[in-house]
Amino acid sequence: MTENTIGLEQMSIVVIGHVDHGKSTVVGRLLADTGSLPEGRLKQITAQCARNAKPFEYAFLLDALKDEQSQGITIDSARCFFKSSRRHYIVIDAPGHIEFLKNMISGAARAEAAVLVIDAKEGIQENSRRHGYLLSLLGIRQVAVLVNKMDLMGYREEVFQGITAEYRDFLAQVGIQPTWLIPVSAREGDNIVSGSDAMPWYRGPTLLDALDTFDKMPSPVDQPLRLPVQDIYKFTEQGDDRRIVAGRIETGSVRVGDEVVLLPSGKRSRIATIEGFHVPPQTRAQAGQCTGVTLTEQIYIRPGEVLCRATETPALTGTQLKVNLFWMGRRPMIPDKRYKMKLTTASVPVWLRQVVTVLDASDLTTDANRRQIERHDVAECVLETLRPVAFDRTSYIPQTGRFVIIDYYEIAGGGVITDPVTTQTRRVQEKAQDRDRRWEPSRITPAVRAARFNQRSTLVLICGPANTGKREVAKRLEERLFERGRFVYYLGLSHSLLGNEMGDHEADERDETLHRLGEISHLFTDAGMILITTVSGLDDDELETIRTLNHPNDCLVVNVGQALLSQDRVDLQLDHCRDLEGAMAKIEELLSTKEYLIEYYL
Ligand code: GTP
Ligand code: MG
Repeated sequence: MTENTIGLEQMSIVVIGHVDHGKSTVVGRLLADTGSLPEGRLKQITAQCARNAKPFEYAFLLDALKDEQSQGITIDSARCFFKSSRRHYIVIDAPGHIEFLKNMISGAARAEAAVLVIDAKEGIQENSRRHGYLLSLLGIRQVAVLVNKMDLMGYREEVFQGITAEYRDFLAQVGIQPTWLIPVSAREGDNIVSGSDAMPWYRGPTLLDALDTFDKMPSPVDQPLRLPVQDIYKFTEQGDDRRIVAGRIETGSVRVGDEVVLLPSGKRSRIATIEGFHVPPQTRAQAGQCTGVTLTEQIYIRPGEVLCRATETPALTGTQLKVNLFWMGRRPMIPDKRYKMKLTTASVPVWLRQVVTVLDASDLTTDANRRQIERHDVAECVLETLRPVAFDRTSYIPQTGRFVIIDYYEIAGGGVITDPVTTQTRRVQEKAQDRDRRWEPSRITPAVRAARFNQRSTLVLICGPANTGKREVAKRLEERLFERGRFVYYLGLSHSLLGNEMGDHEADERDETLHRLGEISHLFTDAGMILITTVSGLDDDELETIRTLNHPNDCLVVNVGQALLSQDRVDLQLDHCRDLEGAMAKIEELLSTKEYLIEYYL
């Protein structure tokens, strides 16, 4: 880049279209005709072609450039650059729709505008439509449509008018109004950077001029803060128990002293410091920066939560999402199969709950009676995540409103969230209802059992952070109640539940275990027993899952130490269990006052 253009703004564009319609040639032309190629490169490639008796192709420039650029580790090989007098352009090379969608959704390549190429001879093809739809899905509204290879059609205006009329209609159906429709010949250089003598009937701008009319997207700094938590780092100095909450600020800004809320957990705190990587601490950080913050209160945070400012519109939370989804998987997406959703930094199991409509993106025919989503379909559907997630409607904040779906370790689909859904029953509720329907109830009622055992049954859940001595309390409590003739059992569930720092796999295992716990406790409490167990790091939603599965039987929650659960869900709060006897006495008292332990009548 030359000195006189330093300081110009940048805009990223994506060039898409059907196979062989001339995407690479358009980009090659842009590079060559704006003088953005390294000195002598054009000559070198033409000479090379001549030597090999191969016709010169502008597309070769791209390959040559890529080879060269990818040798320097700083340059992403999937991009190339050119400039106009107004700004620098970054072209995102997206060879197929998988890469395109992947890049777009991961945010790795946020295109602000698109150039859609259609071959004048072949006309509108499947991908011309599909890519048009993807643009609408991804919310790219600045679009220049090129009718390319006009030279093959004698540069005739009717050809251009015919194709653009048809394509305009199509785009209108998906809510896109192309900003420009330009007849070009990329190979001959008509209307790419210079105008065309061959098409005097066209009075609009060249491609380069058209690109220059596009606007930069409003800076995400002005939107509410969204800082998805990537990781939590511990300070290593002795006695320092602070944690650095690290991630990339997607939108908005944050200052020291701001009151913040973490979603979906709803925990609140204040920003104590903003740490920089290799730079001194800052007082403010904003969209686009990778940063780490520390909080004034030590609250328990998991990666995948989104940090928002308490004074701004918070992210939405929930387990059910209405989405527009583009499916690319080799196998169709089907209900009742577990997939993985990646949404910001969160990674959660997800199920297809309901297919509202399926759209064949290539011809826009809809089908409202489908149960599954085939490859290349675009579907409006409802997804359900295992745990609540924080998100935004894509129309409000695109960065936190898009996701990808993983199937067999591969990206199989991607899409955008259009709305939260709150009306449907959750999977776990359905599971419990289904179980109850199949349950053959015993003729001995809970009241009769209570009278026999001198106790009402309940699950006693002792929870709180790991390593607080909960298990010892639970075991002693079992012994104590047993000695006193109670019908009691300590359930020592897998130790993996005690882990606080979990990878994906452990998180899945934990979910399985909690479901099992819900089912088991339903059996034991049905049988009239007081069941005692411990779970570390239980959050509100996990508790809800256990309660749902244990329903209609009771559950008492004892929290030890720092509360991870909302206060109103805790029946007894203990600060610690160093005094074992004291802790037990309090739990026993709770059981008595709530009339789980019935005194003997003589
Ligand atoms: P894929 O990357 O394979 O999808 O193709 P592409 O869309 O990048 O097309 P590419 O630029 O490689 O062009 C495909 C063929 O069309 C090449 O042989 C080009 O020379 C030819 N072509 C591209 N633009 C024009 C044009 O304006 N006129 C004519 N006559 N041929 C063109
Ligand atoms: Mg190409």
